[in-house]
Amino acid sequence: AEVLRSRLTLHERDARLMDIMLRESDRLNKFVEDFLCFARPGKQPKHSVELVSLLRDTSTLLENNPEVRKMHSIILRPEISQIAIHGNPDQLKQVFWNLSQNALRAMPEGGTLTIQIATAQDGGARITFQDTGIGMTREEKENLFQPFHSGFKTGTGLGLSIVFQIMDDHKGRISYESEKGRGTTVSLYLPPQEPASKSAHVH
Ligand SMILES: Nc1ncnc2c1ncn2[C@@H]1O[C@H](COP(=O)(O)OP(=O)(O)O)[C@@H](O)[C@H]1O
Ligand SMILES: [Mg+2]
Repeated sequence: AEVLRSRLTLHERDARLMDIMLRESDRLNKFVEDFLCFARPGKQPKHSVELVSLLRDTSTLLENNPEVRKMHSIILRPEISQIAIHGNPDQLKQVFWNLSQNALRAMPEGGTLTIQIATAQDGGARITFQDTGIGMTREEKENLFQPFHSGFKTGTGLGLSIVFQIMDDHKGRISYESEKGRGTTVSLYLPPQEPASKSAHVH
């Protein structure tokens, strides 16, 4: 549709209609992406998932995404070669995707998204998404998880509500550190898998 719009010479009223259509379809796309790009809604079955390879998938997808332009670089820097937790891979991919999209949109003039993963002290996983973007004031930070609250042009304000819900369902944690004009770091924590021996050895 956008290609069409630029090729056509339209009457003013039709042009206005076309603009509304484009804006609405963009809004709908964003909405679908925030929710359903990977994950079905609701509680999903969990099993053992390896997170380093999930993050690799995410960064490969990102590198081929139109929102990622030449001035963006995405660096995946895992401190470990693998870590498995108990979770739903599609929902976790949705979390990684939504956080990465926010990071990229926070860097309209370009910048670097650095994704790291390490083992937490208790054997769980610690993942960070660090951007060099616009950052947030303390007030903006307080409204982060409020549904429909968006600071981005054409945002739905729903991406982080989904993230929060999925993290909660995984008994995980999420925290933000941000400085206006400098960038934002999102930290995720996902608890370790129950040791197999716990349920396997019932006498
Ligand atoms: N990495 C970030 N840097 C700066 N602001 C952010 C970042 N992530 C989220 N935000 C702010 O939080 C708001 C809510 O994010 P989100 O729920 O994903 O909705 P959306 O992306 O549709 O706006 C964003 O609109 C933006 O104002
Ligand atoms: Mg978002």
